[in-house]
Amino acid sequence: MSAQTGGIPVLILKEGSSRSRGKEAQHSNIMAAKVVAETVKSALGPKGMDKMLVDSFGDVTITSDGRTILDEMDIQHPAAKMMVEVAKTQDNEAGDGTTTAVIISGALLDKAEELINKNVHATIIIDGYKKASDRALKTLEKIAISVDLSLQGYLKKAAITAMASKLVAEHRGYLADLAVKAILQVAEKEAGKYKADVDDIKVEKKPGESVRETKLINGIVLDKEVVHSGMPKRVENPKIALLDSALEIEKTEFDAKINIESPEQMDAFLKQEETMLREMVDKITATGVKVLLCQKGIDDMVQHFLSRKGILVVRRIKKSDMEKLSKATGGKIITNLDDINPADIGYASLVEERKIGNDKMTFVEGCKNPRAVTILIRGGTERIVDEAERSLHDALCVVRDIVEEPKVLAGGGAPELEVSRALKKYAGTLPGREQLAVECFAEALETIPLTLTENAGLDPIDILSELRARHEKGETWTGIEVHSGKVQDMTQAGVFEPLAVKKQIIKSATEAASMILKIDDVIAAGKMKTPPTPPGGPPGMGGMGPGAGVY
Ligand SMILES: Nc1ncnc2c1ncn2[C@@H]1O[C@H](COP(=O)(O)OP(=O)(O)OP(=O)(O)O)[C@@H](O)[C@H]1O
Ligand SMILES: [Mg+2]
Repeated sequence: MSAQTGGIPVLILKEGSSRSRGKEAQHSNIMAAKVVAETVKSALGPKGMDKMLVDSFGDVTITSDGRTILDEMDIQHPAAKMMVEVAKTQDNEAGDGTTTAVIISGALLDKAEELINKNVHATIIIDGYKKASDRALKTLEKIAISVDLSLQGYLKKAAITAMASKLVAEHRGYLADLAVKAILQVAEKEAGKYKADVDDIKVEKKPGESVRETKLINGIVLDKEVVHSGMPKRVENPKIALLDSALEIEKTEFDAKINIESPEQMDAFLKQEETMLREMVDKITATGVKVLLCQKGIDDMVQHFLSRKGILVVRRIKKSDMEKLSKATGGKIITNLDDINPADIGYASLVEERKIGNDKMTFVEGCKNPRAVTILIRGGTERIVDEAERSLHDALCVVRDIVEEPKVLAGGGAPELEVSRALKKYAGTLPGREQLAVECFAEALETIPLTLTENAGLDPIDILSELRARHEKGETWTGIEVHSGKVQDMTQAGVFEPLAVKKQIIKSATEAASMILKIDDVIAAGKMKTPPTPPGGPPGMGGMGPGAGVY
């Protein structure tokens, strides 16, 4: 890049850098973001299609989950990457609605481009979008249906809705029950409000059997076997110790040499080691525990002694699983064997090693009022099991969302249409160009019912005009039920979604669109010969050029 000052060019960027400015930069960014939105569009709703994604190692993922699709696509364009961020934020904050958020973001940018072409400045559009987003959130709050948590109907229906669009939809009723039970088991009441952490639900998966064999276990399932063949494989009502240090003799950090000159010395040396290990075992047996679950390694000799005492031991358990075991069994994680006290001991009604598929797993189950539980997913193939895990994640998040904020909206495009209608009215009260931006926001929301309709192979023009007309008549919950292909009251169709998901969609989509609109200058460094992958660096400024493709 250079500028002329008195005939002398001034260079301020390295050779090979590129820069695009003004409308050109905006156009290229908007294009890239729109391409991303276009890609996920066909995956929206129960009639949406799945995507088959093949990574550079040839591993195949089949999914209709917005976040997974974008994660697996190796997106390079910086503006397109911001759309991936939208999906991530949506997933982290609400757990569902990732496809919708990306589609609305794309639609907001599409409409903004029309305004930019009419010479409306980006700042005005951004301000208008902000106002529209605030009003949209208020409207959603106003129309939301309050949920009585003691009746679990809405929770189950929302979980079913979240899974309706997934590969495992056939089993949605069954899986929804598990999701509701799991969340209610780990939810805690604080100051009159429930809090639930999806991380307290361990999801294990093993291909084999069918999705119907997926089970909720009131405790923790470990993908590990009992460490020694001489140990019991099943212990009923055991006392359980959770240990996060190794049962081994610590090795010195330096190379140490011991000179042993006689067989007696050798013998004494080994005896000494054995005594130390025996002491460890004695400390454990003194507590009366019948099960020992250890995060670290265990010396062969200790394993042998413990097996002789009839104690069931599992070793090298992940730290995160140890924490869950603590929440499930009520035991505390012990670091020093000298400090074990009776209050640290955990309980379960059964600890058992079982063969699941080709692997052995250890079940710690029947815990009394556990604060962490496990869902063990089964299914015909690995891909089904993987997609079942992703779908269950959405279902768990949706139930959590409602437990934490007990309000729902009916789906099928109804809330988007209702908000759109409210925004069109609101636009009339605003001056000049902001009015145009709010109207664009209203139109962008209509992409959701439109896409649901298109994906179901229905006629979008007829259906959308019928939807608009019926909302105008005050039918708040009229939407498109895609299985029957009918325009109907979505509360009757039992399609419900958490208010939290829809609010987050509006927030994430508006933020991303505004952020992309605000950029009017893209300066990209030249490509390095062997591009390093910057750890957590700015999202891929490398390789950006005006009009660069998304793939
Ligand atoms: N029976 C139905 N009829 C019409 N629309 C439905 C029905 N069931 C669900 N929907 C709608 O489908 C949309 C959700 O689709 P989908 O789950 O594919 O996308 P998402 O939730 O935005 O993203 P993701 O689940 O990938 O994170 C919602 O708008 C919901 O109201
Ligand atoms: Mg969904």
